[in-house]
Amino acid sequence: MASSSEAHKGPRHVAIIMDGNGRWATQRGHPRLFGHRAGARRVREIVESCPGLGVRYLTIFAFSTENWKRTQNEVAGLMSLFRRYITREAQALYKNNVKVRFIGDRVRLDEKLTALMDELELLTADNDGTELTVALNYGGRDEVARATKRLAEDVAAGRLNPAEIDVETLPKYLDTYVLPDPDLVIRTSGEARISNFLLWQSAYAEYEFIDTLWPDFTPEIFADVLQGYGTRERRFGAVPG
Ligand code: FPP
Repeated sequence: MASSSEAHKGPRHVAIIMDGNGRWATQRGHPRLFGHRAGARRVREIVESCPGLGVRYLTIFAFSTENWKRTQNEVAGLMSLFRRYITREAQALYKNNVKVRFIGDRVRLDEKLTALMDELELLTADNDGTELTVALNYGGRDEVARATKRLAEDVAAGRLNPAEIDVETLPKYLDTYVLPDPDLVIRTSGEARISNFLLWQSAYAEYEFIDTLWPDFTPEIFADVLQGYGTRERRFGAVPG
């Protein structure tokens, strides 16, 4: 797997804003939840395509801190979908050597769901294949605020010297502290916004905004997007030498 990633110079960490489920369903005359269910099926295919494409880390935006503003019916349907998805997919994820993590604030999620999230993280903790991170009740600003709170607590307790705080310090307090920064962020459905996703971590990421709606996003389209990334030069603010 590592060698295939080196061979095509592809991104090691890809983050995806899975947008367009609602429109996909509406276009077919179905309720929005029908689109979310189709979207969930795509998640499996995309995760399974990662080793072949040399993607080691995949981070997906499943539910944002702003998504609570949707109708109660849609929010409840999504929460129930997450519970069913975890229950149904746990064994396949484990067998496929996927290591699963969740990021975001768990406080507002129901206990049944957080228990399933804990179980899945534990079940897959020793897997060493694709590292799948699911952002659930996640918001970049909320994450930075929560991180800052913990950092301030460490300062107040005398565990951290304010004079030593630098750009290496803050990310240690973020939910993603064990992950490398994303190399590529993809958003489906034609919207060119980042919507509060991985704000700190994506400072130097490449972005791809593609028109395909998430339920239509196949591993072939994923491979095409990654191919495009391979041809770009990343400078991280420097002048090429
Ligand atoms: C955005 O589409 C999508 C979401 C808010 C939910 C993402 C959830 C999934 C893909 C389902 C399952 C995920 C997991 C991890 C099991 P939208 O509803 O905003 O679409 P629209 O812009 O067309 O309305």
